[in-house]
Amino acid sequence: MTYNEKDQQYKRFTVTSALPYANGPVHIGHLAGVYVPADVYVRYLRAQGEEVMFIGGSDEHGVPITIKARKEGVTPQDIVDRYHKIIKDSFAELGISFDIYSRTSSPEHHETAAAYFKKLYDEGKFVEKVSMQYYDEEAQQFLADRYITGTCPHCGNEHAYGDQCEACGTSLNATDLINPKSTLSGNPPVMRETKHWYLPLDQDEPWLREWILEQHKGDWKTNVYGQCKSWIDAGLQPRAVTRDLDWGVKVPIEGADGKVLYVWFDAPIGYISFTKQLKGNDWEKWWKDKDTKLVHFIGKDNIVFHCIIFPAMLKADGSYILPANVPANEFLNLEGDKISTSRNWAVWLHEYLVDFPGKQDVLRYTLCSNAPETKDNDFTWKDFQLKNNSELVAILGNFVNRTLVLTHKFYGGKVPARGPLPELEQEVLKEMATFPERIGRSIESYRFREALAEMMNLARLGNKYLTDREPWKLIKTDPELTATVMNLSLQICANLAILCAPFLPFTADKMRRIMNLPAMGWKDAGRADLLMEGHLIDKPELLFEQIDDAAIDAQVNKLLETKRQNELNAWAPNAVKETVALDDFGKMDIRVGTVLECSKVPKADKLLQFKIEDGMGTRTIVSGIAKFYPEPEKLVGMQVCFIANFAPRKLKGVESQGMILSAEDKDGRLVLVTPSQLVTPGCNVG
Ligand code: MF3
Ligand code: ZN
Repeated sequence: MTYNEKDQQYKRFTVTSALPYANGPVHIGHLAGVYVPADVYVRYLRAQGEEVMFIGGSDEHGVPITIKARKEGVTPQDIVDRYHKIIKDSFAELGISFDIYSRTSSPEHHETAAAYFKKLYDEGKFVEKVSMQYYDEEAQQFLADRYITGTCPHCGNEHAYGDQCEACGTSLNATDLINPKSTLSGNPPVMRETKHWYLPLDQDEPWLREWILEQHKGDWKTNVYGQCKSWIDAGLQPRAVTRDLDWGVKVPIEGADGKVLYVWFDAPIGYISFTKQLKGNDWEKWWKDKDTKLVHFIGKDNIVFHCIIFPAMLKADGSYILPANVPANEFLNLEGDKISTSRNWAVWLHEYLVDFPGKQDVLRYTLCSNAPETKDNDFTWKDFQLKNNSELVAILGNFVNRTLVLTHKFYGGKVPARGPLPELEQEVLKEMATFPERIGRSIESYRFREALAEMMNLARLGNKYLTDREPWKLIKTDPELTATVMNLSLQICANLAILCAPFLPFTADKMRRIMNLPAMGWKDAGRADLLMEGHLIDKPELLFEQIDDAAIDAQVNKLLETKRQNELNAWAPNAVKETVALDDFGKMDIRVGTVLECSKVPKADKLLQFKIEDGMGTRTIVSGIAKFYPEPEKLVGMQVCFIANFAPRKLKGVESQGMILSAEDKDGRLVLVTPSQLVTPGCNVG
């Protein structure tokens, strides 16, 4: 039984998590925002003995996937096959316990999504509209969503997309863009007539207002409620649910050649089609029975789709329940910067699993304890290390380890009998008994950070108890009380094995294995008789290990390298300087000289000292390129260009008689400029 009175009215839970686009792997932002909280929630409900279905899958349609495919010269199916596998495997390895993880390119999904559209179409639920849309004459294609870019009318960002400006977050129509350009040909598009089907959201406003703004006031999270309110207050517009594209679910009616369902129409239907795949004929109660609680876990960029558009689709069909809650999270940043797939600014789950084998729970812990529940949050590697070393190792791991080690030392691994309970012991047990409900209530209210912190408080209680009683000393003076202390500590360990399971499933399994515990549910937690006298405990193993600076530095360096790469990619030549007359150029005396000697200037890291044959004799020139020519003697014999009429100046005690020309590459590297053939020293360059 759950603790939330409302939840007790439900017979079962349908829990969905946003379907990640299969155009890239999953990163920590996805995990902290959606999948870790959703997994904690369903694991908890299962431990409560509830009937739960947890749905996930890849969102394999949409323009970004076709654009990526075109760029790589492969098919969209190739792209989604590649990422679906990476995503699915890495979720499984992290212990995200989906009951099904499917995909929207499957024939079953196409069939369900097409049938959903067809039913609404036949019942006249759509508005058909012919409108002018951008068309690329060279590519002979309509330009949906991301196929078009231009300047955002709100913030002036020159790289806004036809559906959204990522700089200011505004949702756009392609026709809003200033100076629109096709991403296919780069040409300005033309306008062409096309027919599409629209969901008349304007007609849904009254019931949406009542349902969300009245019935769910104070119940849905503030960030979710606030976004819904501003959408509804701004006035809902009809939304096109079809697109002119050839990748997606074909529009299943006549005269709709070359048209597919809009990705945001077909993807949420994925939740339903995956249910059918999982449950067969028994699927309907999970979506149509009033006793089912439907909960969508999503990130904040998905709020309008899950709170307004998908509910409007469900309502248009008429036979479905609506979501009871949509606990959307804000965003997680990485080391102070917005996570970005295109800039590779992310910690990728599949890479983490390789770099930190066996440390799934450390990531789950860090992301859950730092989940962006009410505001954007930041992930840093230092914080990750700290959470591991000073919380998982020092609090939870330490308590369990001390208890198990002492049990072996004093009692050969057998749970000792406990005697009468002094006051402190009674208090500890009383306090322990309150944790299941405290943690449970927080989880049921979607406050996962708080729930996790409570779980750790139980480990803290255990540590404090050991410190108060000091059984390692007490054993010498009061063996009977020591046995009681160890018995109670073991009960706390067994409780932790149950209560940490939603958050740290791998650790919970390990604890259960070491303590030889049977499978237990949430209702068993709180009890002080989970381990009976004489029960045998296996040899202790450490639950967590320290993460050292080297491992963290390696990750930080990887990010620094990404930053450097991004800067290089963003490089553009300097703007051309203002026009000068030929005379001005003529004032420069640029010549070719041959290097006779070259060496480092003593006590100056950056400087090389050249002796140059300049046709008239020799001259010394100092140049700040030492870093790029570590073996200066190899430059002897080479010809360089230099400015011959610079006033001499002293650099680190050496008089420099001119300036050697070099090119500065985009990474800041200086490269000597040299004539393409040998010429006579002293001749002019011009
Ligand atoms: N692919 C979308 C995103 O990553 C989420 C789709 S959720 C669904 O933002 F409901 F449409 F499935
Ligand atoms: Zn903008």
